[in-house]
Amino acid sequence: MNNNLLILGGSGFIGSALCEKLVRRNRGGNERITVASRRLSHARHLQPLPTVEIVEADLYDDDQLARLVAGRDAVVNLIGILHGREQDFERVHAELPRRLALACLAAGTRRVIHLSALGADAQAPSMYLRSKAAGEAALLQQPGLAVTCLRPSVVFGAGDRFINLFATLQAFAPLVPLAGAAARFQPVWVEDLAEAILCVLDDPATAGQTLECAGPRVYTLAELVRLAGCWSGHRRWVWPLPSALAWPMAWCMEWMPGGPLMSRDNLLSMEVPNVASGHRPGLESLGITPTPLEAIGPGMLGGGGELARLDRWRAQVHASR
Ligand SMILES: NC(=O)c1ccc[n+]([C@@H]2O[C@H](COP(=O)([O-])OP(=O)(O)OC[C@H]3O[C@@H](n4cnc5c(N)ncnc54)[C@H](OP(=O)(O)O)[C@@H]3O)[C@@H](O)[C@H]2O)c1
Repeated sequence: MNNNLLILGGSGFIGSALCEKLVRRNRGGNERITVASRRLSHARHLQPLPTVEIVEADLYDDDQLARLVAGRDAVVNLIGILHGREQDFERVHAELPRRLALACLAAGTRRVIHLSALGADAQAPSMYLRSKAAGEAALLQQPGLAVTCLRPSVVFGAGDRFINLFATLQAFAPLVPLAGAAARFQPVWVEDLAEAILCVLDDPATAGQTLECAGPRVYTLAELVRLAGCWSGHRRWVWPLPSALAWPMAWCMEWMPGGPLMSRDNLLSMEVPNVASGHRPGLESLGITPTPLEAIGPGMLGGGGELARLDRWRAQVHASR
């Protein structure tokens, strides 16, 4: 039984969906969920959720991490970054899992669910994917822990920073110059991914496994941008950039105020198809039928925030077909 959970990175996109799901199913009303955040304000939107406690913590402080993991039935690690320098990726994706592994071991907290990414590999071209592989290894190779890694493709849903971003861009830009237009993705719905985390939490037999979490269809990036434009009512011309232009464009975007929209490291990540290999268990192994993007995208983008709330209803219709 996992009644006492610690969620690291619970304030983020996937963590928020997971917290909602956990609270909704709260078995017998005795589940206790702690979300650790660098700033309480980052998790403010979780405050209305009963049984979720938000604590401010510095996870790089050994004493604080030890106190946080002590007495937990399981820890879910959702901490990740998409942009940064080599040392940032190393610190967040590799060092933190290493420290988490040691803290859990010392506290006797054996069960850990870790969010990695499709394409994680020590030999991958990007810092992002190499550091994700190092984080997986740090946890999976720690004897004494029962770790399950989940490797999602790109995740979509209300509040994502992928499909929604492409829709927003097209609302303002007359055309979309697109780097990595031919890169392939297999987008997975955030609710399916959150359900998968619940399933593995409930199933100790998944310990030691690395699951690939992907949707039912593969798309190129250009197709995804066009769909986002179409569903949001702002379809623009998509201009696939040749690599001679893609690299300088990505470099420029790294310097954008408010954080990069894209980086050269993202371009390197896109050299690896973000598609399930089929060599590892997927959502189906957990009894989850992946929801198509087409079942969610139009409602999510077509009418703004309110219609996004129809996500679940659409998925239920899909599931009952
Ligand atoms: N979203 C996707 O499409 C996708 C695809 C593949 C893999 N993933 C992986 O899934 C996990 C969750 O993704 P997400 O989309 O929910 O991410 P997210 O919305 O960016 O949330 C990640 C959380 O990590 C914490 N965080 C960020 N930078 C940190 C740092 N430098 N030190 C400590 N904590 C930090 C933040 O929590 P606080 O600000 O509260 O501290 C944030 O809420 C990540 O590991 C990500 O790499 C996501």
